[in-house]
Amino acid sequence: MSTQNRYQLNENDIPKFWYNINADMPVPPAPVLHPQTMEPVTPDFLNVLFPMDLILQEVSTERYIQIPEEVLEIYKIYRPTPLLRARRLEKALDTPAHIYYKYEGVSPAGSHKPNTAIPQAFYNKISGTKSLTTETGAGQWGSALALACNFFDLDLEVYMVKVSYHQKPYRRIMMETYGAQVYASPTDLTNYGRAVLGAYPDNPGSLGIAISEAVEAAATSEGKKKYSLGSVLNHVLMHQTVIGEEALKQMDLAGEYPDVIIGCVGGGSNFAGLAYPFLRQNILDGQRARFVAVEPNATPSLTRGTYTFDYGDTARMAPIVKMHTLGHDFVPPPIHAGGLRYHGMAPSICALYDAGYLKAVSVPQLATFQAAMQFARSEGIIAAPESAHAIRAAIDEAIDAREKGEKRVILFNLSGHGNFDMAAYQAYMGNQLEDYEYPVEAVKAAMEKLPKIEMPA
Ligand SMILES: Cc1ncc(COP(=O)(O)O)c(C=O)c1O
Repeated sequence: MSTQNRYQLNENDIPKFWYNINADMPVPPAPVLHPQTMEPVTPDFLNVLFPMDLILQEVSTERYIQIPEEVLEIYKIYRPTPLLRARRLEKALDTPAHIYYKYEGVSPAGSHKPNTAIPQAFYNKISGTKSLTTETGAGQWGSALALACNFFDLDLEVYMVKVSYHQKPYRRIMMETYGAQVYASPTDLTNYGRAVLGAYPDNPGSLGIAISEAVEAAATSEGKKKYSLGSVLNHVLMHQTVIGEEALKQMDLAGEYPDVIIGCVGGGSNFAGLAYPFLRQNILDGQRARFVAVEPNATPSLTRGTYTFDYGDTARMAPIVKMHTLGHDFVPPPIHAGGLRYHGMAPSICALYDAGYLKAVSVPQLATFQAAMQFARSEGIIAAPESAHAIRAAIDEAIDAREKGEKRVILFNLSGHGNFDMAAYQAYMGNQLEDYEYPVEAVKAAMEKLPKIEMPA
């Protein structure tokens, strides 16, 4: 019997194309609307923030888009990432299930985020951009873009959610090491930041506010700066499909095919990156894998949010999209998985969820850390708190398989390591973490501020 743990590909197995699910979407996309006029956005409007190559990718319906050589050269630093079988975890759970995970924490930034940061920096560079702005929650995205901007010699301004800026000084230092300028958001550098601080000087910040600041900084720079987003948009999810394309080949090496594919969801990019190439196999090839997106109880946009049009950011400067949302000015409870504290979700994931192609579950913070601890002690890797949500769901699947006496093949995305998240682990071990229930009243208040959009039925 094979006892192989690690399924490795060679450098020349790095995918040469990204997979664009728009080509195979079983449901038509809803229009993206201008935040002021509420009319469909034009490329000119988007071009203030993004280079044209990325705008074209955003709306493309080509099934495969070629990965530029310059991007592949940098992917080679850490791709292909390994696929591992969690044999020790299986044993600890006494389950007949086979548990596989794709490990994206081997990138220099420590997560899947460089998969899109690198091409975004590249397309900006070739269109003449000199400087980028972005936001970051826990710091994973900011570190990834700082890494990419360093390679392409671009300046970078990062608006980091204030609570994380203070909780995670090492993430800030990492971004600075790569050459980025990092600010604690809300700042007094933007009109929106000053307005927020004026109303509430101790505001701890949120992803929605930090996005607004980064968008404003780019939009008011008279063309000197562009903006970059680490999740939610079609082109971002598409860049992440290198994860699933590799995993398809690696599952082949393992001689198995997953029954269920699991990923945590903040804006949806690591989940989509793993899931969409397998979903293509369901749609085009008759495979029957199930897909499970995992979110925190504290920000359950898929499982408890409303599927409607909403702004992408708190200040209502980013486009309006149709998504499952908790309301653009909802400030989520301060869970440690900062990267999952977003009010909305990628429109393509929402459309697929609404049409029944994906399932979603929400999990509490304490059970998530309990799963992360069990994983660390059986497999050795200390997971990012975000990725720990996927571990929780994978363990629950494995327990369910044990209870039903079923052999089940489980594949999940371990989207990042948690080596900079020790304070969160310490709080868990010191019994200082708490569960946050669904914040009914805060969501209700935020939902009253949705844009009023009239769409033909
Ligand atoms: C390690 C990790 N996983 C997951 C996420 C959630 O983002 P997404 O849903 O876009 O993958 C983040 C976001 O910062 C992250 O840092």
